Amino acid sequence: MKAIQFYEYGDAQTMHLVDIPSPAIGPTEILIRVRASGVNPSDWKRRQGVYQAYEKLTFPAGVGVEASGVVEAVGENLSNSWIGKSVFGFGRNTAAELAVLTHWAELPSNVSFEMAACTPVVFETASRSLAYLGMQADETLFVSGASGGVGSAVVQLARAQGVNVVGSCSHKNSDYLRALGAMPVTYGDGLNIRIRRVIEKTIDAVLHVAGVGIIPELIELVGDPYKVVSVTDFGATQYGARFCKGPPENPSQTLSALAEMLACHKLKMPIEKKFPLADIAKAHQLSEKGHVTGKIILTIEK
Ligand SMILES: NC(=O)c1ccc[n+]([C@@H]2O[C@H](COP(=O)([O-])OP(=O)(O)OC[C@H]3O[C@@H](n4cnc5c(N)ncnc54)[C@H](OP(=O)(O)O)[C@@H]3O)[C@@H](O)[C@H]2O)c1
Repeated sequence: MKAIQFYEYGDAQTMHLVDIPSPAIGPTEILIRVRASGVNPSDWKRRQGVYQAYEKLTFPAGVGVEASGVVEAVGENLSNSWIGKSVFGFGRNTAAELAVLTHWAELPSNVSFEMAACTPVVFETASRSLAYLGMQADETLFVSGASGGVGSAVVQLARAQGVNVVGSCSHKNSDYLRALGAMPVTYGDGLNIRIRRVIEKTIDAVLHVAGVGIIPELIELVGDPYKVVSVTDFGATQYGARFCKGPPENPSQTLSALAEMLACHKLKMPIEKKFPLADIAKAHQLSEKGHVTGKIILTIEK
């Protein structure tokens, strides 16, 4: 089967489409024929070696942690009734024709493979971060970097919980954020002044999803470092802010909740661009630029 692999830490060109044997599955895992696989910043950070201090890779290494597809085989502790079902979820080396899922849910009949493949990571991160912040209805959240994958999911989940959301984005995404239910402000110098112009209410908490070197400014906005949580800047803790780190908590429960929300169209995720597996370098390069609206996915023909 065809899969993406890389042989050393490095740039997008280190990845190659190769022919390798089908992966082995553990007793509680499934093997799927992949139809779509989500692209996340963690894919290229892992490939660049950003995580190597605490996550050593064995080379050749695969790429991708989320996918949708059709079940081909099941581990020895699972029922054969899963075989042939359409599913989506978390897995390993999902940028491939065949991949192992460790946690999954059945794909609702009215949800596409593409939509399902790009939502597990961002939805799980969004729900985990909101729980971490302990947001309550009628409180106000500022999301720094609200128009990307995680930001879009956070805005929608927070609004569904009755939380007011102000979110930063570039000018081109202001209408997009407004349509999701957030009050948009552009990021950059003078951010806190612009936030004050759109909302007089106290900002109760901040979720830092994007924006470099702005943790002190975000702390100033809420007046308490504990109320600032970053999912992207490990250095946030040096200012007393908190870092909310994966791996996913309760992944199976999260996927069931996500399946329900997708089936009822309660969660939308625009797909900015689709790439065939062979063009993964282009997909990663686009993600690395840091201005994706919604998500990027890899698709694999049946
Ligand atoms: N800790 C965890 O558990 C966890 C889990 C998942 C992801 N993450 C991390 O979360 C981060 C975001 O992931 P993602 O999937 O949402 O990425 P993404 O889809 O690539 O989103 C990037 C977004 O950042 C915005 N942005 C760029 N520069 C900005 C700035 N200076 N200020 C504010 N916003 C800015 C962009 O908005 P414009 O297009 O409008 O410029 C874009 O919408 C990544 O660092 C990822 O590694 C962490």
